Amino acid sequence: MRFFATAAKGTEPALRDELRELRFRRVRADRGGVHFEGELIEGARACLWSRVAVRVLLEVASFDAGDAQALYEGVRAIRWDAWMTPRSTVAVRASCRSSRMTHSQFVAQRTKDGIVDAVRTEAGERPDVDRDDPDVLVAVHLARDRATVYLDVGGGSLHERGWRARSGEAPLRETLAAAILRLSGWDRERPLIDPMCGAGTIAIEAAAWARRMAPGLSRERFGFERWTDHGDAMRARVCDLRDAARAEARADGPPVYASDVDPLAVERTRANALRAGVSLVVETRDVRRLAPLDPPGFVVTNPPYGERMDAEASVIEDLARALRRLQGHTVAILAGSPAIGRAMRSEPERWWILHNGPIECRLLLYAIRGARGGGTGDPS
Ligand SMILES: C[S@@+](CC[C@H](N)C(=O)[O-])C[C@H]1O[C@@H](n2cnc3c(N)ncnc32)[C@H](O)[C@@H]1O
Repeated sequence: MRFFATAAKGTEPALRDELRELRFRRVRADRGGVHFEGELIEGARACLWSRVAVRVLLEVASFDAGDAQALYEGVRAIRWDAWMTPRSTVAVRASCRSSRMTHSQFVAQRTKDGIVDAVRTEAGERPDVDRDDPDVLVAVHLARDRATVYLDVGGGSLHERGWRARSGEAPLRETLAAAILRLSGWDRERPLIDPMCGAGTIAIEAAAWARRMAPGLSRERFGFERWTDHGDAMRARVCDLRDAARAEARADGPPVYASDVDPLAVERTRANALRAGVSLVVETRDVRRLAPLDPPGFVVTNPPYGERMDAEASVIEDLARALRRLQGHTVAILAGSPAIGRAMRSEPERWWILHNGPIECRLLLYAIRGARGGGTGDPS
């Protein structure tokens, strides 16, 4: 079976490396995600173990679809009864690129028509649509007038790990935090700090990754577990996968620190870490008082941007001054504006363009030189 794991724009190389490390087969990065192959259980394993993948999609058909009729016919020809009955609910997500049909909602609608008509022809009744919680979530991607139809193996976006309290804030997505950590080159052994932690996403992802906690374990069930072909044999295999994932987790990991000037953010991080089952050293601290880690380690952070210009400039100056002192540390900054790059006063070793939702950001990676080994104390 052919799978396509989707990734936030710019994080495809991180996802490719992750899937290779997890020993998936025929892993190949592409625009918007990474291809891999295997039995359905491999799709399940990707949902359970990938931290960077946003969705895991199973390809079910690919055909030319230059117009609405061709799309409808192509979808209708698929044997939907393998995955659904008239009692199943369905939803369709669509995306279009460089094609004559440009309205994704229209493409989704025609795809849905093809599915329900196919099921009605086979089984005499049509399935209902449930946009919020469908049994079968279908994705259709139209590129250069060719449609590829997928089933969403996870049944939704995998960034939700189950620990985040609803807060009204706009934190980093867990999947993007995981990609940043991977791109930073963190070895999961040295200490790590996020000195502007907000809700704690980066620090929690770091601690969970270092402890080999499977990110999908918190999900009660994945999308494929609601498909009609999900029988006892597959159920047993998925049960084994989950048991093996539980056994894989390490009891401890390197120290992970999180701090923020805002006591409410600190409280939120503490509560989130507790729910995530990871232990962090969390405290209220202004970044101006950031101390070196001992031994020197990694700083991975996402400073504020899009605030009042003068306020942003002064925070960014404070952050850059604090970071430049951290000899021997590796620093990764997800920057939403060019200010921090200038304030660091040196070229980054590496950088990447990443998308935090609609915002184009740069991930800047610095090795702070001049280490003579050892820091001056831990930040707590
Ligand atoms: C973009 S948010 C970080 C979001 C975080 N990555 C998350 O996922 O929730 C930036 C954070 O920087 C914090 N901050 C602003 N000025 C600070 C300072 N001088 N020292 C420490 N933290 C600061 C803010 O309170 C805010 O929580």
